[in-house]
Parts: sequence; structure tokens; C-alpha cells
Amino acid sequence: MKGVILAGGLGTRLRPLTSVTNKHLLPVYDKPMIYYPIECLLNAGISDILIVTGGEHAGDFLKLLKNGKDLGVRHLAYAYQEGEGGIADALKLAEDFADGEKICVVLGDNIVERNIRRAAGDFFTQRSGAKILLKEVPDPQRFGVVRFEGDGEHKRVAEIIEKPASPPSNCAVIGIYFYDADVFKVCQSLKPSGRGELEITDVNNYYLQRGDLTHEIIDGWWTDAGTFESLYRATDLVARGGANHADQPVKREAAAAH
Ligand code: G1P
Repeated sequence: MKGVILAGGLGTRLRPLTSVTNKHLLPVYDKPMIYYPIECLLNAGISDILIVTGGEHAGDFLKLLKNGKDLGVRHLAYAYQEGEGGIADALKLAEDFADGEKICVVLGDNIVERNIRRAAGDFFTQRSGAKILLKEVPDPQRFGVVRFEGDGEHKRVAEIIEKPASPPSNCAVIGIYFYDADVFKVCQSLKPSGRGELEITDVNNYYLQRGDLTHEIIDGWWTDAGTFESLYRATDLVARGGANHADQPVKREAAAAH
């Protein structure tokens, strides 16, 4: 399985911090933000990674990360997104890189406390489809949110709603997704949403309707870092206890072997 980190966008919600740099290069405690999604993938055993970025500061990623070896990345690739088409539009650029393999997509401003190794392993053995990760949050209206149907054993995801004014649950879809190779056809078929973007939530709803979407509620904290409040929270959470904890120490060499 390969990894794709989406690190484009103008970061308008963080101006003036993003006036002279890309959002994903801003510091979160002691590291640039982009280190966290890279470590997240490495800890899941994924070390063949594409970074999709754009804008006038795209070259700074190369200056910082070079070929990724210092971080333990076996193969680091870059793609340049023109314009602002949304997450599912950026993902289209990963098709050649994926080359028919399954992918794990991580939004570049998402940080998790614990590793996603188990979810990655589960998806590796999932025959086809997609897998989303969920976390209960106090402010679901900021995210893609799950509406559940049924109870107990019969509880299932019925729908995912992007930034609902009246959230049907407090379960947010976090920015780490697993997809089979069909995802690129799905992205090509999408129509722009009300905010003029190709929405990753529409991709997930496609797989849901196909009966091919699994989910897992993650352990540990999760945060995005794309607003002043969440960037501050991310810094505080990382300063208190770090991020991307492996259940067992993951040797860089072991991750590189996958
Ligand atoms: C995006 C997705 C949303 C998801 C969130 C996670 O939101 O559209 O479904 O819950 O990332 O960070 P955005 O960052 O574009 O507001």
C-alpha cells in the first residue's frame, strides 16, 4: 500500500501565517506540520509516499524534505496541484503514483496521537472498497459527520454529511482514508459542491452506497491544524505527549521494508 499526503491549499484561514509559506510547513510544537502525516504513514509501515501540494511555496517542501531519507521515507514523490479544486481534485494527481495499488490518503494538517497500523492492516486484507476513520468530537459541524442507523450489532453508517448545520452524531470523519484503485474513477465522476470543490465526503458516500465502506473509531486524540484554534490545540497536544505513538517501537528499517 502506498501513501498520499494532501498538502495543498492556500491556508486562507491562517493568514497572515500563511502569507509567505505553505500551511503544512508551519511549526506544530517542535516540527513542521508535514512531519506528522509522514510519521503517521511510516508508523503504519507505509514508506512509499507522494506529497501533493501547490501554490507559490511548493518548492519549500523539497528544500525541507529533500528525498525523505532523513525521515525514513523509502521513496518520496511530489505532485503539483494547479488551482484550488478541493481534496478529491488533488487526489486525482495520485493516479499514476498509485499505479493500481491501494492507497492511504492523509490530509497534511491532520495529526493523531496513536498509530493507524491496525486499520492499515485491516484495509490491506479488505478485498476492495474504502475505509474511513472516525473520532467523536465536541464540534462536529466543522467536519464530515456520520449519520448512523440501527442499534447495537445492527448499527451501521447510513450517510456522511459534510459540515452539517445540525450534526446527526458527534462522530467526525478524520482526514485519513483508505481506498482501492477505483477511487480515481470516482474522483473523475464528481461534481463540485456548493463551496466549488470536489468533496472527499462524496467519494466516501459513493463507496458507502456501493456497500464497500468500512470504518473504525480511532483510539487516542485526533486534531486538524488548519485554523488558529486547532493549530494552537495541535501544538499543545503534541507538546504534552507527542504524536504518532507506535504500539511497539517501529524500526525505520522495518517500515522501509514494506
Ligand atoms: C476536510 C473534509 C472533512 C473532514 C476534515 C478532516 O475538511 O472535507 O470531511 O472531516 O477534512 O480534517 P476541510 O479541512 O476541507 O474543511
